[in-house]
Amino acid sequence: MTTVRAAVLRAPGTPPTVEDVELADPRDGEILVRIEAAGVCHSDYHYMTGGLTAPLPLVLGHEGAGIVEAVGPRASGRIKVGDRVALLWRPRCGVCEACVSGNPVLCELGRVQAATGGLPDGTSRLSFADGSELHHLMGVSCFAERVVVNENAAVVVPDGVPPEIAAISACAVITGVGAVWNVVEKAAGRPLLVIGAGGVGLSAIMGAALTGAHPVVAVDIDDEKLELAREFGATVTINSRQADAAAEVLAATGGRGVPWAIEAIGRPATLRQALDATAAGGTVVAVGLGAADTEFPVPLNQLVQRQKRVVGSLYGSSNPLIDLPRIFALYLAGRLPLDRLLGERMPLSEVATAYEHLVAGAVGRGILVP
Ligand code: APR
Ligand code: ZN
Ligand code: ZN
Repeated sequence: MTTVRAAVLRAPGTPPTVEDVELADPRDGEILVRIEAAGVCHSDYHYMTGGLTAPLPLVLGHEGAGIVEAVGPRASGRIKVGDRVALLWRPRCGVCEACVSGNPVLCELGRVQAATGGLPDGTSRLSFADGSELHHLMGVSCFAERVVVNENAAVVVPDGVPPEIAAISACAVITGVGAVWNVVEKAAGRPLLVIGAGGVGLSAIMGAALTGAHPVVAVDIDDEKLELAREFGATVTINSRQADAAAEVLAATGGRGVPWAIEAIGRPATLRQALDATAAGGTVVAVGLGAADTEFPVPLNQLVQRQKRVVGSLYGSSNPLIDLPRIFALYLAGRLPLDRLLGERMPLSEVATAYEHLVAGAVGRGILVP
């Protein structure tokens, strides 16, 4: 048992508080990781507002990286003390139908974590000093000095990849790049639309550029974010506050629309823009998470007469054990400019301010350092 500083969410609508909590030792197949960097992802904000719910109170943070300080009993040996690791918010049991059929993002352990607020075995290593119950978020809870996670929720980070890059790679980057790699088909030489140029959307734009899509069209409501989108490979940018996004996309694609559109915000209005901007036979890939009660009305005849599809993609529909090492290798080869995705760096004690800045439109991915 060790005491760690951590950002605790007690109730939706209240700011997170940074306080000392207790962290139990790793059990079978688990590891203790000292956090070096954690990303300020929009998903945590959904839990802060109550748009998404999880067992409370909990320790926030799900996009993190650090150094392994201890390995629990009966671990596989894949992760060793001293390894630098990026943390995954979807573990992988390896034996359920989703895992075996090559779709580990839908591993049953994800549901166990969500329902119990625990690690994959359904129990928590976190508690308050008085022994009362404290939950994990998405099996990670990395807005903390240290975490205990399942070893299957960690990927070794190669030398040369800094902790903040490792952290954002394990959520925003793999979600955006993964949607292009694992969902979009035949991207090369064809138009690709990305709506939303936050951490996830910019990563999708990077993935689109890397894959040879053309033109890469980015839509946002913030000119600064659109400028960044251009740096990452967007060739057409549209500010949807100033212009009709779908009409502009049609104009940029000879009136046809795009075969693939990625929505990286999670709003009905922008999903509709994506659908309207999609060519006949095209597909909208919904990547942005909305609040739990978000609904998206789809005009039926766009599906039938124009044979469009809307599909969802969680966590880049990836197999992180394969895709994350590829992302690291491309970063080290200079082909994924992830450094430019980084925004302001703040101490963990400033977590509430970091989220105020996110909501106010901070450019680049914020990083919290314990
Ligand atoms: N039209 C266009 N762009 C918009 C709109 C809108 N109506 N509203 C917001 N945006 C832009 C913002 O300007 C910002 O650039 O969407 C982007 C959202 O970025 P972030 O807040 O950084 O969110 P991010 O972490 O990238 O996550 C996006 O994916 O995983 C989910 O929960 C996450 O719902 C979130 C989404
Ligand atoms: Zn995230
Ligand atoms: Zn599984």
